[in-house]
Amino acid sequence: MQFFLDTGDLNEIKTAHSWGLIDGVTTNPSIVAKTGKDQMTLIREICEIIDGPISAEVIALDAEGMLKEAAELAKINKNVVIKLPMTKDGMIACKKLSKDGVKTNVTLIFSANQALLAAKNGATYVSPFIGRLDDVGQTGMDLIAEIRTIFNNYGFETQILAASVRHSEHVKMSALAGADVATIPLKVLEGLFAHPLTKMGLDQFLADHAKSKK
Ligand code: G3P
Repeated sequence: MQFFLDTGDLNEIKTAHSWGLIDGVTTNPSIVAKTGKDQMTLIREICEIIDGPISAEVIALDAEGMLKEAAELAKINKNVVIKLPMTKDGMIACKKLSKDGVKTNVTLIFSANQALLAAKNGATYVSPFIGRLDDVGQTGMDLIAEIRTIFNNYGFETQILAASVRHSEHVKMSALAGADVATIPLKVLEGLFAHPLTKMGLDQFLADHAKSKK
């Protein structure tokens, strides 16, 4: 399973990268806005740190505008993945970009049918937002499992990128359900290291070591 970091904070990206655990980065307009930078600058800076897929989202709502933005973003680095909304125009842009060999990430996926449409149009990734489904009383994890079954049934190569990941259990359940990638905030990634028995065990080993003969 690949891990992407879901952030535009360069310090967070450097930290997670130093642990050797990060395969890529995802951003969205909300993440970019938090940094106070323009998207092109931010994506360029991220590409200097991480040599892996970096998702950058288009703002235009029409296919032509999306393709224009995609062309500018794709110029930044070969690793840039164009994030497109799950709309009819998003699907027109997805089909064209995949035909041209540009990597795409279809975002705001909340149903298996939406994922099926994106896969049919050659999306590199689909991003089901599991936390936001949980927020409205549905079970986000069921969506990952449904998409996995559909993609397996038809041999779609589109990768399932579990997004809107809020806690460690989401990461584990996404892995069990067969997501190819999870995009994770740094806080959640840090949480994956922790177990009380690991800390207790380490404290005990160090205490015993202090008692042993020098
Ligand atoms: O990258 C998009 C996604 O992960 C959003 O997460 O927490 O805003 O629902 P969240």
